[in-house]
Amino acid sequence: MSALSQKHLISLKSLQKSDIDLIFQTADNFKEILQRPIKKVPSLRDITIANLFFEDSTRTRISFELAEKRLSADTINFSASGSSVKKGETLLDTVRNILAMKVDMIVMRHSSSGAAEFLSQHISANIINAGDGTHEHPTQGLLDGYSVREKFGELKGLNYLIIGDIKHSRVAGSDIPLMLKMGAKVKVTGPPTLIPKHIEELGVTYEPNLKKALEWCDVANVLRIQLERMDIKFVPSLREYALFYGVNKSLLDSIKKDITIMHPGPINRGVELNSDVADSKQSLILHQVENGVAIRMAALYLLAGRTQ
Ligand code: CP
Repeated sequence: MSALSQKHLISLKSLQKSDIDLIFQTADNFKEILQRPIKKVPSLRDITIANLFFEDSTRTRISFELAEKRLSADTINFSASGSSVKKGETLLDTVRNILAMKVDMIVMRHSSSGAAEFLSQHISANIINAGDGTHEHPTQGLLDGYSVREKFGELKGLNYLIIGDIKHSRVAGSDIPLMLKMGAKVKVTGPPTLIPKHIEELGVTYEPNLKKALEWCDVANVLRIQLERMDIKFVPSLREYALFYGVNKSLLDSIKKDITIMHPGPINRGVELNSDVADSKQSLILHQVENGVAIRMAALYLLAGRTQ
């Protein structure tokens, strides 16, 4: 019997390799169940989960809701828009009131880095961080790692490249520790203004030239340019960004290597990634989305105290 070492899933930095292995193995079982005509199991029929989205989402929100339904959990969905947050209610008051209705687990997306960690210091329910500001997006990191493991068999020894807006990316914040813990090498590329200072201290190398970085990698995860997180301009124009850091088919054809392309979504088509790559056989994008359901089922199941 194996269980997670942590009560919450807030950050992959603090997760152990054995936890990641356990989540992947549990997701393997759920992925098999998701191929069956009846995709539902009774595992969490005694659990109520609140999905609290204080920030917009398509993939993560639907994926968590579907994962919860496949596990037979009761779910409630909360959006900040249309709620009493608009009347000035605090995060803690909102969550405490929801928990008073006998909710067992919280899935939360919030625009503030550290919001999930803050909550974990004040409530006893399990929390899954569904993305907090520019900090982490642990289930995205897990589904990215799981999708690469599915394609290559293991992550150990792979060259994993992350392209673009590393500074504002919670996906990079989770992908980097996951890939390093699982034995992959990680490089980042992008305009110097979008690379955090001292990135090397994370165990990651920086290559400013996109073509050289692509020649190095087996897998490239192309990040979205996050205009909503840039209070000042970090690139002169999107046109220039696309010219120097946009990934397109002619660039990939010029590299004598079959690189696997990923993107967490939503895509700015024609900016960081062209449709001739996003929709090609090299792209893992829709497999990432598919795997998100099995990974979130695994995370919910294990945090609820169920064991493998
Ligand atoms: N990848 C991701 O988090 O997408 P959403 O913002 O649509 O949830």
